[in-house]
Amino acid sequence: MTVPDFLTAKKAGRKLSVLTAYDYTTGLLLDSSGVDALLVGDSLGMVMQGNDNPLAVTLEESLYHTRCVSRAARRALVIGDLPFLTYQTSAEQAIISAGRMLKEAGAQAVKLEGGIRCAEAIRRIVECDIPVMGHVGMTPQSVHAFGGFKVQRNEAKILEDALAVEQAGAFAVVLECIPSPLGEEITKKLTIPTIGIGAGPNCDGQVLVVQDMLGMFDEVRPKFVKRYADLGSAIRQAAEKFREEVRDGVFPSPEYSFK
Ligand code: KIV
Ligand code: NA
Repeated sequence: MTVPDFLTAKKAGRKLSVLTAYDYTTGLLLDSSGVDALLVGDSLGMVMQGNDNPLAVTLEESLYHTRCVSRAARRALVIGDLPFLTYQTSAEQAIISAGRMLKEAGAQAVKLEGGIRCAEAIRRIVECDIPVMGHVGMTPQSVHAFGGFKVQRNEAKILEDALAVEQAGAFAVVLECIPSPLGEEITKKLTIPTIGIGAGPNCDGQVLVVQDMLGMFDEVRPKFVKRYADLGSAIRQAAEKFREEVRDGVFPSPEYSFK
């Protein structure tokens, strides 16, 4: 998958599937599933680091996880998420942070949050031939300004933001936690693909956090998460069985031991 393939998919009416990934092993599994892109999201602050929100994630951490996923991706597009305060202070800062994602971490594109207020940064990054995915609606880095992770309903503002992201040269935009009719309206008005998460069925594609959709993460359970597996139970049961077998001297049996 390439950045131009994303635009082709929208024109052809082919829906795009995106999952997050943060490590090599999961990256290999997801890449072989045929999903179109692996997003190394700053959601890693929650699911990998145990924080309440993504604000503490550093650029170095994001680069590290993106590097791990890039090594795994044979087919999927790898998108590195720019953490809080690594692109907001100036266009120069944004270009350097974005450029490091490609240069040091092997990403093919970056993602950043914000519409109108980030349009200049997006334009300047794209001028350096670094593809940018936008992100509007409920942008988690704004959690304190929003007073929590809440559905965003300011329709006029969200539409303007999405249009600004497209005009600035982004190749796609994430729509997060907005009413479905707004997701549909934005999708119709934009020529770049919209990738929804809690934005209804009419976006050009969908993204989910992998631990959420695999049923591995219970601490937050947003309404938009569908669980496609119950790996949480599978992992817990396997660890319990291991613990019992070690306790009872059942493991390791001769077949797992050297003569
Ligand atoms: O950080 C992340 O995982 C994201 C997606 C949920 C869009 O930004
Ligand atoms: Na993110």
